[in-house]
Amino acid sequence: MTPAHVTVVEVGPRDGLQNEHASITTLDKIEFVNRLTDAGLPVVEVSAFVSPKWVPQMADAAEVFAGIRRREDTRYTALVPNLAGLDRAMRAGVAEIAVFAASTETFSRKNINQSIDDSLAAYQDVCDRALAAGLRVRGYLSTAFGCPFEGAVAPARVAEVAARLADLGVFEVAVSDTIGIAHPGQVPRVLDAVLARLPVAKIALHFHDTRGTALANVMAALPFGVSTFDASAGGLGGCPYAPGAAGNLATDDLIYLLDGLGIETGVSLKKLSEASAFIGRRLGHRLPSRYAQAVASDFSGS
Ligand code: HMG
Ligand code: MG
Repeated sequence: MTPAHVTVVEVGPRDGLQNEHASITTLDKIEFVNRLTDAGLPVVEVSAFVSPKWVPQMADAAEVFAGIRRREDTRYTALVPNLAGLDRAMRAGVAEIAVFAASTETFSRKNINQSIDDSLAAYQDVCDRALAAGLRVRGYLSTAFGCPFEGAVAPARVAEVAARLADLGVFEVAVSDTIGIAHPGQVPRVLDAVLARLPVAKIALHFHDTRGTALANVMAALPFGVSTFDASAGGLGGCPYAPGAAGNLATDDLIYLLDGLGIETGVSLKKLSEASAFIGRRLGHRLPSRYAQAVASDFSGS
């Protein structure tokens, strides 16, 4: 069941940069995205058309989309929280968007100021309009492995909201470990519950690496046939509305692992490392990725 090919969804320009205090110029964001796509990443989440009052780091989403060099073979995506965001995304020529719901009520309210039910009702309008216009829509499901406010989350509950999200018409549900609390003992339990409701082809996994378990979680998920994983270059990231959330699983570490397993991704680790180093210099701090640290110390053996 372990897939021969994995699709890596690069979320660094969005999930990574939304949580950085350093302000990155629009030109540097554009350069970052271009370097990532030149490295062969097939999907890049470029930005978020959310309220700039809530996440000021993503206020220049339209400008970033206007500046990037779009490759034919790359999917460029963005978060959209509501119809206003969809309008902005469509004006920017975005062909794929992602809506984002949560498994737990408190996180839903803190992140998007709505209950789960209200958010799904509002997302139905977003999906209907986006799908009618020919856009692809992905759905995130946050706090699927634990919530910073409510603690443990029952896998049956995760599966229930995942199925409701899928019913909106999304092509894929990104089951997300918002605060990086998942471990390889838990991943099979959550996958068993979700896969009882949805086919594996509709499932992606989105791990944060707060406790250093993200790569081990990928290893636990591969035998289930999961073949789409989110990651951020250099391990940037976090969620501004999830206290204690650290960066995403580092794309560099993930590609090193998948290369080692002989699982094809189409990504050049060398070019990806250069993209990570570029954004690391702009941020002015050491990147969490262990692979990036090894490269920076020249201990990579290459
Ligand atoms: P609200 O304050 O309840 O709604 O926010 P509102 O309609 O009153 O809007 C507030 C202001 O924002 C208004 O402006 C709106 O016009 C404006 P004002 O009238 O005060 O001048 N506004 C917008 N402006 C531009 N684009 C828009 C937009 N919408 C409203 N789309 C809302 C509700 C959902 C808008 C807000 O809560 C929001 O934007 N939340 C997004 C939070 C966010 O981006 N969180 C991080 C991403 S999620 C994540 O990281 C998790 C993930 O990685 C998976 C995982 O790890 O779990 C995906
Ligand atoms: Mg995230």
